[in-house]
Amino acid sequence: MEIKDVVKEKYGQAALRVATGGSSCCGATANLDGCGVDPITSHLYDANQTGQIPAEAVKASLGCGNPTALANLKPGEIVLDLGSGGGIDVLLSARRVGPTGKAYGLDMTDEMLALARENQRKAGVENVEFLKGEIESVPLPDDSVDVVISNCVINLSADKDRVLRETFRVLKPGGRFAVSDVVVRGDVPEQVRRSMEMWVGCIAGALHDHEYIAKLAKAGFHDIDIEPTRVYSIEDARQFLTGEGIDVDAVAPLVENKFMSAFIRALKPASKECCGPACCG
Ligand SMILES: C[S@@+](CC[C@H](N)C(=O)[O-])C[C@H]1O[C@@H](n2cnc3c(N)ncnc32)[C@H](O)[C@@H]1O
Repeated sequence: MEIKDVVKEKYGQAALRVATGGSSCCGATANLDGCGVDPITSHLYDANQTGQIPAEAVKASLGCGNPTALANLKPGEIVLDLGSGGGIDVLLSARRVGPTGKAYGLDMTDEMLALARENQRKAGVENVEFLKGEIESVPLPDDSVDVVISNCVINLSADKDRVLRETFRVLKPGGRFAVSDVVVRGDVPEQVRRSMEMWVGCIAGALHDHEYIAKLAKAGFHDIDIEPTRVYSIEDARQFLTGEGIDVDAVAPLVENKFMSAFIRALKPASKECCGPACCG
């Protein structure tokens, strides 16, 4: 099975669990009723934000950060959320950009799109459109979006260079990349790394911080910055790692504080390279 099919199946199941009143969690706490104790997905949004959207959209949240709080969205802007899931960040963005702006959500999983559209209906917001498609091939024209957000999705892609190229393509000149994602800092043994990634994100392929920066620069971005928002302790993952047969005390020094959720920002240059006084701008 391709990674994409596995991801689709996992998140399709998570969407169905939420739609039937269960938990959206698909990582460490999948069998619990709600993500209340999950150190990754819980308490990402403040009461002011959760009060603006339906409870079902909050319950469907599967992110690892809060890009809408950090993206500095302004009225009238066009926002695209890569891997929009149950739609929490799209609905919050739509409120921030107001009726003169628009928020797109893009997701490849039918069950998630159905959940997101139902949440949009409950929220009663009109400046929202959920698109079916893959983040490696965004179904929007060049230079059409002011801000690309995403919440714990790019780590799931098997072709991150393509995702970043596509993001760069759809952003307007001067457009902003404002993404929450899981990032690794420093070296971690392969088996432990795979288990930690399973703990954090069900099926994840987190990049090292320096890889993320290099890939963004290769795609054409500048002003790149990675700001940790939650750094995970080995204790957060102890139960899960023990279940995976890992001697937690032995590996602790190799893992401690190396996995984190981070806010990653970057800019698309405001104008093409100057070719003369007449063609700058
Ligand atoms: C971890 S969930 C995050 C959902 C949402 N961003 C949130 O914060 O709740 C990942 C979502 O990304 C979608 N996804 C994963 N890989 C994708 C891809 N390559 N193209 C489009 N959607 C993808 C999944 O279907 C799922 O809805």
